[in-house]
Order: sequence, then C-alpha cells, then structure tokens
Amino acid sequence: MKKQILCATTACALSLLVACAPQTEQPKESQLLKYEDKITEIISQMTLEEKVNMLHGKNMFSSAGVERLGIPDIEYADGPFGIREEMEPHSWNSLGLANDSATFFPTGSALAATWSEEMAYEYGKGMAKEARLRGKDMILGPAINIQRIPTGGRTYEYLSEDPQLSAALSVKYTQGVQDNGVAVCLKHYALNNQENDRGSIDVKVSERAMHELYLPPFEAAVREADAYGVMAAYNKVEGYWCSENDLLLNKILRDMWGFHGIVISDWGGVHSTVGAAMNGLDVEMPGNQYMGEALLDSVKAGVVPESVIDSKVRNLLRVRLAIQPIPKEEANKVMTAQPEQRDIAYRVASKSIVLLKNEGELLPILPGKYKKIAVIGDNAIREQAQGGVGAGVKALNEITPLEGIQSKLQGVEIKWAQGYRNFTREDRYKRISPYQEADKKLMAEAVQLAKESDLVIFIAGNNREVETEGSDRVSITLPMGQDELAKALAEANPNLVTVLVSGAPTDLRVVKEVSPAILVSWFNGSEGGNALADVLSGTISPSGKLPFTYPVKLEDNQAYSLNVYPQITEEEREDIFVNLVNRKDARERKSPTAEYSEGIFVGYRWFENKQIPVAYPFGHGLSYTTFEYADLQLTPVTEGFEVSLQISNTGQFDAEEVVQLYIGRPDSKVERPMKELKAFQRVALKAGESKTVRILVPKDRLRHWDETTHGWAIEAGKADVYVGSSSQDIRLNGSIEI
Ligand code: BGC
Repeated sequence: MKKQILCATTACALSLLVACAPQTEQPKESQLLKYEDKITEIISQMTLEEKVNMLHGKNMFSSAGVERLGIPDIEYADGPFGIREEMEPHSWNSLGLANDSATFFPTGSALAATWSEEMAYEYGKGMAKEARLRGKDMILGPAINIQRIPTGGRTYEYLSEDPQLSAALSVKYTQGVQDNGVAVCLKHYALNNQENDRGSIDVKVSERAMHELYLPPFEAAVREADAYGVMAAYNKVEGYWCSENDLLLNKILRDMWGFHGIVISDWGGVHSTVGAAMNGLDVEMPGNQYMGEALLDSVKAGVVPESVIDSKVRNLLRVRLAIQPIPKEEANKVMTAQPEQRDIAYRVASKSIVLLKNEGELLPILPGKYKKIAVIGDNAIREQAQGGVGAGVKALNEITPLEGIQSKLQGVEIKWAQGYRNFTREDRYKRISPYQEADKKLMAEAVQLAKESDLVIFIAGNNREVETEGSDRVSITLPMGQDELAKALAEANPNLVTVLVSGAPTDLRVVKEVSPAILVSWFNGSEGGNALADVLSGTISPSGKLPFTYPVKLEDNQAYSLNVYPQITEEEREDIFVNLVNRKDARERKSPTAEYSEGIFVGYRWFENKQIPVAYPFGHGLSYTTFEYADLQLTPVTEGFEVSLQISNTGQFDAEEVVQLYIGRPDSKVERPMKELKAFQRVALKAGESKTVRILVPKDRLRHWDETTHGWAIEAGKADVYVGSSSQDIRLNGSIEI
C-alpha cells in the first residue's frame, strides 16, 4: 500500500477551499427559465377557472392544459423501470392496447449495481425514447429514496443505501431522460424509506441525516441535471405531509436548490386544500378532491391569493413549454418496446450481476466443463416485469433465467425442476405468508435431478409479490422454504451455484454455508436471462457491485437494532388495513412516528462504526479475473483534488472493475462514519492490460451539514483516502490535509 501525505502547498490550497466553502452553491441557469415572458403573457389571458383546472389530475395519468389557448395537457407515465401500459382514464384497469408493450429495464438496485454513470444515462435515454412513442411528457421516476431497511417494499425500485452512488446515478438518469425530450419526476420526495404505513407515518430525522443522506440524490438531480419534476411522498416529515411541507417544498427544494419545475403529489397523497396550496404543491394527482372546486373557493374567499395560483401555473407552463408536446394522433402508432432499448436493458443487466462468492472456481461454465446441468427453482421460469401492487411493466417479452441458460449452453443437457412453490398474488390476498416450509414433493423431485447432474444452478430469491409496493417484508429469509431446499440440494450435489433473483438483501446464512458460488441477478429486465447466462458461461466476467450491504441477519440493521422499526405491530396493521381499509381518517389518526434515531449511520456507515460483521459488504462483487491496484497519487486542483492510480487486470479474462474511493476523517470534531463513498469509476481492462485511472473529488463532497449554523461546512484537518474494490477491500490509501 502506498501512502502519500500532501505537502504544505497542498494543505494551503485546500484550506483556501475551506474559506470559500459554499453554503449553498448557485444552481446553473435552468432551461425552464427560457420562457418567462411568454408565460406571463399566457397567464394574463387565463381565467381563474382555467388556472385551477391545471392544478389537478384530469385523468389517471394526465393534468389539463388550456385548449382555448392551445396549451396541451401534460401526459405522465410510470416509471421508473419501463413505460407503463395505457390505463382507463379513471381507473387502474389496463386499456388493453395492442402496441403499448414496453421494454422492461432492470429495476433500480440492478441499475445501481452497475455503478455506471454511462449506463444510468443510457437507461434514462431508453426510457425517454419509449415514452415519446407513447406521447408522454413526464416519466414518474427515477425513484431515488435511500434504502434504509432491507425489508423495504420498494428497495428494488430504489438505487442504493449510499447517497453518493444514488446521487451520481440520479443525475445521469435525469440527463438521459431530459436530453431526449421528456421530463423526469424525482420520487418520492422525501424520506419515503418504508412502505408499511407510508400514508400515515411521521418521519423524525436529524437535520444532518436529512441533508447528508436522504436529500442528496434529489438535490444533485435538481442542481446538476435541472430536473423538471418532483413527486411529493405519501408520508409526513417533521409533522407535515410531504405534499404540504413548507420546509421540504419551499425552503429546501425551491429556495435552497433553485428548483423551477413542478411538484406533483403522489397518487392520493394530498390532505388539504389551503395547506397544499400554500406550502408548495402544484398538482394534485390523480383526482381533484382538494385542488379543484375547493381550491377555486379558497381563492374566491381570499384565503389563497391568486398570485399563489399564478406561480403554480407558471411552474406548469415552464415544463409544458420546455417539453415538445406530441399530438394524440401521433402517439401509440408503433410498439413501445424497440430493439435499441432492449440493447440498453441487456447492457445494464450484464454489468449489474454481482458474484458474491466463487469457491473452487465452480464458475464460469466453460465449454466441456459440465455435461448435465440441473436448473432448479420457480424463479428460473418466472417473468418479473409485473407484480406487487405498484408500477409494473407490460413487457413485450422477457428472457427468463432458464431460457437464457438453455439458449447459451447448447450441447449441455439441461433439465429443470421447480423445487419450490411460487408465492402468488392470491397468496398475498389470502394473507398466506411467503415464509413457510418447503414443499416436500417439489423438493424431492429437485433433489433427484440434482443427484443426476454435474452442476446445480439454484435460481432462488424473491419475486415481485414478495417485494412489493405498499408493504414491507416481515423477514429477509428466503421465501417458500428455499433454505431447506438449498441444504437438500447441496447434500445431493455439492456443485451448487445459487442465483438470487431479488432487488433487496436476503438472509444468506444457510445459502452461504452450503453453496460454493452465489450470484445476485436482480429483477433484471427484458434481457435478464441472457445477461445471466452470459455471466454464468464466462462470455462476460461479472462486474456488478452491491449497492447495499447484505447484513448477516435482519436484526443487525440500524433501524431494527435501535428498535425504531417496525413502528407498529402486525396486529395493529391488520386492524388499520383490513378493517378500516377505506377509512382514510382512521388511518391518519393512527399516525406512528418513524424515528430515524441512527442519524447518519445508515447501511455500511452503521455496520462499520458499530463493528458489526456483515454477510457481504457494500460495494462487494467478484470477477473471474484479478485486479491489482498501485501508485496512488493525490493532487489538489482548483475544483477539489484529483486521485490517480494504476489498475491492472492480472488474470485471464477481459473484465471491468469498479474503483471505489472512500474518505474518512479520523480527527474530526463532529461524529463521522469510518468512511464514506465519495467517488467511483468503472474501468474496462483486457486480460493483462493496465490503465491509469483519474478521479476528481470535487470539494463539496467533503462538506458536512453543520446543525449549529444550519448549513454546509468543510472541516479543516486530515482526511484519509481509501481506494479499493469494495468498502471492505481497500487496496490503497493515503491522506491529505484539508
Ligand atoms: C406510487 C408512485 C406512482 C404512482 C402512480 C403511487 O402509488 O407511489 O410511485 O408513480 O402511484 O402509479
């Protein structure tokens, strides 16, 4: 390991930075501000009724323009991982169109596992291209809340437990979408980190944790990528609903970050007329309970000034004028899913698969290595584009793991057995638990097949009914008796490769013990099966890295350990959601507090500081090759400091590696995590190749939120720089004086 202490000039250069540390950096001029005069002119011609008519849903996924003045409606589309099919105007029922099948992109945590800004941009571009074919103006995504608990129902939709990784990818996703003519809607702003009781909880969070952990993805996408839309979350933050939260919507989003776009509510997430109107909400979706007649009356009664309405209309018109409308007759003319997007989905999937372990070089499956392969598991044949209660994609097609393996490994005898029962939507409705014993008959069949084979590929994990919007998992144990099955398979045949199809962490205590090779292959989109087969066969060396920690057990997670999650018992929830399902007032009365008592210690920040062992650390992911890191250099530059190093591929496979850069502040006067991710870079290296990697760490990445001044600060002193292949596989370190 090479250590480099910067010289006095360096220290001096960086202390100048400290003096200039911006409290709030000036945002770049927004594209949305190009039409202000025209907008003033349009507003002057509008009646109050026409204005208010723009401020709520017209249909399930549109809000009104002004026909008389030639202003088209705004058309919205879920997002975030594929353009949702067309719905009936006022229901969640599909219209059943013939050509609205879209590309299913790998879900959020899969995208994040690529640790690739380039892929995030391509992903956004692909989403925008398909949105345009459908006449959509705004995509309801990306979904960028921090993954605070492994059980979170939407962990698979979100990106990461880390704010820097989430922020970097959010910026590129946003640019990819907006450079291609569609607006994003960042969701769910803010602190929607659990699905249980999301419509009633009140989140209590420290100012520092809010600014350092939960807001950065939103802030970066607004400031650096000029995001045009934001969706207010269902929950409360510090006593106020997110859809009427002056702190979040006015003070932070608009005043501090310089946001000029529209704030729309999450579907059904509005709770009052005056509160929402006065505290930053522009559009109520999808109905008009609060921002229709009631809003009109409030203006007429002088409670809500017309100037407030005008500024909301201005926000809407900015977006409307910035996005080229598509005439209705031009939308939906061709199939939504197009080959270019399928290619993007493939590339993302192929870079997202994480090799957790590979003992005895069981993988890759090189030609001639195995003659008979058993593929076990219901997930091997299961499509994952739809499910749960939320956003799903009517995918044009989806390659399952079994299909991918069969088409790749020609000449090998491949047999499939179901192994475990599928957990279905019906099971969920009947309140049957996914955590049950193995089906003995299916298990026996699978064991028999395993005995007759040279290699067993166990396609395990969750599915889109286990991980779902609207509720969190009660456990991270593998469902449907998969642990029991894994043990039996390993006894029958020790050559066991386990593939985890899931978007969130699972408890691997059993699988890790019995399976020499483990991969995470996510809910990986239309091309998921092909990408998996290419990684299994060694056509591609795995290069995904975990965007979250795999804890040893659920109780180790910070919120469970501090006993601040779950906030109410399953029985109480049963009472609220089953008996009072349609009584919103009753739900709201039962408004539990979600205390974020761990502060800034979320994910690896928690595990490292508390020295709690993990199953697999944040940033972990193996390759079929080996990489050597050398020659760390730290150089101050005007924007911050530059890190350079040599990286060599010392193995036999062409491969990609994600170089990760963490910073620790050992002598800090404020409480700090041991280290925090500050930058990363994906590098492609042929076998035997070396490259110099240069990474710029901008000065504002060194900032922390000072709760005494209520602003950002950069602390002087020593900063340790760690460069490595995961948060716990540090290959080089050095330090700088700040
Ligand atoms: C979800 C949003 C989604 C909206 C429209 C809500 O239930 O929370 O993410 O965009 O529905 O489908």
